[in-house]
Amino acid sequence: ARAQIGVTGLAVMGSNIARNFARHGHTVALHNRSIAKTDALIEEHGSEGDFVRTETIEEFVGALQKPRRVLIMVKAGDPTDAVIEELAAAMEPGDIIIDGGNALYTDTIRREASLRERGLHFVGAGISGGEEGALNGPSIMPGGPKESYAALGPLLESIAAQVDGTPCCTHIGPDGSGHFVKMVHNGIEYADMQLIGEAYNLLGSALGYDAGKIADVFTDWNGGDLESYLVEITAEVLRQKDAKTGKPLVDVIVDAAEQKGTGRWTVKSALDLGVPVTGIAEAVFARALSGSREQRKAAVGLASGVLADKPTDAAQFTEDIRQALYASKVVAYAQGFDQIAAGSAEYDWDLHPADLATIWRGGCIIRARFLNRIKDAYDENPKLPSLILAPYFRDAIETAIDSWRRVVSTATLLGIPVPAFASSLSYYDALRAERLPAALTQGQRDFFGAHTYERVDAEGKFHTLWSGDRSEVQA
Ligand code: 6PG
Repeated sequence: ARAQIGVTGLAVMGSNIARNFARHGHTVALHNRSIAKTDALIEEHGSEGDFVRTETIEEFVGALQKPRRVLIMVKAGDPTDAVIEELAAAMEPGDIIIDGGNALYTDTIRREASLRERGLHFVGAGISGGEEGALNGPSIMPGGPKESYAALGPLLESIAAQVDGTPCCTHIGPDGSGHFVKMVHNGIEYADMQLIGEAYNLLGSALGYDAGKIADVFTDWNGGDLESYLVEITAEVLRQKDAKTGKPLVDVIVDAAEQKGTGRWTVKSALDLGVPVTGIAEAVFARALSGSREQRKAAVGLASGVLADKPTDAAQFTEDIRQALYASKVVAYAQGFDQIAAGSAEYDWDLHPADLATIWRGGCIIRARFLNRIKDAYDENPKLPSLILAPYFRDAIETAIDSWRRVVSTATLLGIPVPAFASSLSYYDALRAERLPAALTQGQRDFFGAHTYERVDAEGKFHTLWSGDRSEVQA
């Protein structure tokens, strides 16, 4: 046996990761359900490194050095369970199975527990960066037993993206934590994309800019605080011309956004944990609304009630949008990190936000200059109650706040939808409010259901005898 790592599931992500391992000098055993994919990989890229071609699971497992390390890159759900079962049957105690797909973290918790009972290590690893990242350096978020990281970490770190000499890969925490963190990463990715979409829509609808001109704005923004992979590719997408019509490609793409599920999972989990991830939720719902094509068709032409003229100072409004985008982005990340803290507490994972900000600086879809600031903020104060309260972000929002309000109010008066900008601003206003209408909610709950309330001036729970003499009693 000579392979240091095995990869099973050789679709694009799997092939690219296998090639990445090989290019870094590791011997890689290859396995795929249909042998044609394995052969194609060896034929096209065999010269990139040392690959071991295998046909059966037994042969595959037999090709691996001990402790055996197998990375599974198959579809989340049943296909993953099926491959795990086959592998587990052929492996020995101490061997390591790594699931590199976008698995639901609760599945990972279940799988880890059941493989642990059989003496095997199961590592649920979030891998971000798309096809290009898989080949040239992804961000990797491995969970699972800490002992297994000793045998696995150096291998993963060698193929991960590097920022300032630090690999974008670290042991995240026990069982499902790696996939949980990847899920929240994707939720933030959804929010980021939605915010960029709203900025694009405002530049087009409020300022009348065409795709090319908007591309220039994004390129310009990418030179500053907003510098990020998503802003960079936004400009590229906007600049792309359609070969068939000569129009900007974006103008001939159907405006119905799809989703594979990780954003939705993030919001479901946030609901269970009681964490308001409003920016991410708006992004998920915005995709759903865009996809309600029949409803939208029927609603075109409904009253618009536009109450304002378009902004006349294009430069000022463009700068306002940039500020609104930045501030809303801070909110989305703050909420995502809140969810990570809540997940960590719920499952006893002891997650470190600064480590996540560190490994998200490169390789992954949400990589951005901004993450250095998040890392600094958590390095300085690991117990930060909210990212919004870190001095750097507090100042950034103070600088942005007037612009943010102008953008949300102008969009509203013009009838341009800005669900993520607006809800992020409302979140911020609610968070900083001294009093919230929740007091009234508590009064109503006590009225119809005797659910009790707390008082601002006394300890304990109280109830008003609403259907009696309306005096107050201690509950
Ligand atoms: C990544 C991406 C990756 C994938 C998403 C797309 O981090 O590399 O997030 O995981 O592209 O699953 O998600 P949707 O299809 O739901 O947009």
